[in-house]
Amino acid sequence: MLKHGLLACAVCLVSATLFAQSIDPAQIKNKMQWFSDAKLGIFIHWGVYSVGGIDESWSFYNKKISYVDYMAQKKGFTAAKYNPQAWADLIKESGARYAVLTTKHHDGVALWDTKWSDLNVVKQTPAARDLVAPFFAALRKDSIRCGAYFSLLDWSNPDYTGFTKDSSRYKISDDYPRWNKYRRFFQGQIQELMVNYHPDLIWFDGDWEHNAEEWESGHVRDLILSYNPNAIINGRLQGYGDYQTPEQNIPVSRPPYPWWELCQTTNLNWGYHPDDTNFKTPGEVISIFADVIYNGGNLLLDIGPKEDGTIPTEEVHLLKELGKWTRAHQEAIFGTLGGIPQGHFFGPSTISADSITLYLFLPATTYGQVLIKGLSNAIQDITVVGNGTHLKHKVVGKISWSKVPGLVYIEVPQKVTDEYMTVLALKLDGPVKLYRGQGGL
Ligand code: GLC
Repeated sequence: MLKHGLLACAVCLVSATLFAQSIDPAQIKNKMQWFSDAKLGIFIHWGVYSVGGIDESWSFYNKKISYVDYMAQKKGFTAAKYNPQAWADLIKESGARYAVLTTKHHDGVALWDTKWSDLNVVKQTPAARDLVAPFFAALRKDSIRCGAYFSLLDWSNPDYTGFTKDSSRYKISDDYPRWNKYRRFFQGQIQELMVNYHPDLIWFDGDWEHNAEEWESGHVRDLILSYNPNAIINGRLQGYGDYQTPEQNIPVSRPPYPWWELCQTTNLNWGYHPDDTNFKTPGEVISIFADVIYNGGNLLLDIGPKEDGTIPTEEVHLLKELGKWTRAHQEAIFGTLGGIPQGHFFGPSTISADSITLYLFLPATTYGQVLIKGLSNAIQDITVVGNGTHLKHKVVGKISWSKVPGLVYIEVPQKVTDEYMTVLALKLDGPVKLYRGQGGL
C-alpha cells in the first residue's frame, strides 16, 4: 500500500506505485503479520469443470467446448463424498496455515446459495447444498485461515461485458446502466461472502478485463474492510490489493514488495484433469517452497478435487510428504524472514525472526563441505534441523586484525541428509551481519 513509512525504502517506492490507496502503514503491517508468518497455503479449484475434467471456465471461453455442454456438467456435480473436515485435516497435515477455495470461478457458478443468481451449486446441481460454509467451519476447527477466491469477471452473467474469446456483449461506454447492474451484482456477491463466511482473505481473479474505475476497486476494497478491517485482499484488484501474486512463476530474484505469494499448480492444471499426470514430485514442490520463502514470499499450492469431493491420490500423497518435511523443519520455515543474498551461500536460506539463527537449505543429496562467504558473525553452534546432530565447521583465511570475514566451511556427513532437503541451523553470536566490502583493512 501507499506510504509504507515503516518499511525499507526500496520497498516503499515500488509498492507506492503498485498500490493506489493510502492506508495507515502500521495497521497494514499488523494485519499482514499472520500472512507473512504462514508461508504455505493450499489453493482449491473445485467447480462443475471437475465433472468433465476440463479447463476451469476457459474451456468454453476458448471454445474448446460449447457453453451448453460446459454447463451440462452441472448435472454431474454431486459432492457425494465431500468431507470438508478431511480436506481441512489434510491441509493441516501439509503444514499449510491457510486455504483458498474457489467460491466462484469465471464461469459464474457459485459454490454457495447466492441470492443474486440461480447459477449456483445449491440450486442447479445434485450437490444441492452450500459447499463453502462447512469447509470454512472445518478449517477454523483446525486453526487454518480461510480464503475465498472470487472471480470479478463472470462470463455467464448477461450483464457482464464478455462471453467467449470472440464474442463480447457490449462496451461499457455504450451502456452504463447495464454495467452498473453488473457492478451491483458482483459487489452484492462479495458482500454476501463477507456476511456469510467472514473470510480472512479475499482472493480476486479476472481483474484484467477492466480497470480500477470500472470495477470500482477502491469501493470494493472499502466494502470488504467495512465487514472485516483485517481482511487481506490479494493484488488482483487493479491496484487496490495488499500483495502480489506471480502465477506459476518463481521470481529469479527477490521481488521488490513486502508481501507476495506464488500460486502454483501441482500438475499442469488448476482444476481436476484426469488426463494430466504431470505431477510435481514432493522434492520438486519442497525445493520450490524453499526458494519462495527464501525470497520472502508464500506458496499457494493448488489442488483440484473431483466432482464428488475426493482429492486425487497423487495430490494427497504430495501434501502428506510435504507435511512430513514441514513438520520436521518448522523452525526454519514458519515465522522466519527471507534469507541472505546468493553470493554468500549458493542456495535458499531463511533467518529467524530475531535474526540470530540462519537456516541453510541444502538439496537432499548435498553433503561434504558447504561454504558460506562474508559472514561477519561468529557461529556458536550448527545443528541439522529435525535431526539434532551438531556439525563442525572451520573458518579459513581470517586475519585477526582485518574486518574481512573468513570463509566458513561446514562439514555435512552424508548420513544426516534429508530425503528431500536438508536444513542446517547456524546459531550466531548476534543478528546476522554480512560483509559485502572490497576487502583490505
Ligand atoms: C488465472 C486463471 C484461472 C486460475 C487462476 C489461479 O488467472 O484465469 O483459471 O483460477 O489463474 O491463479
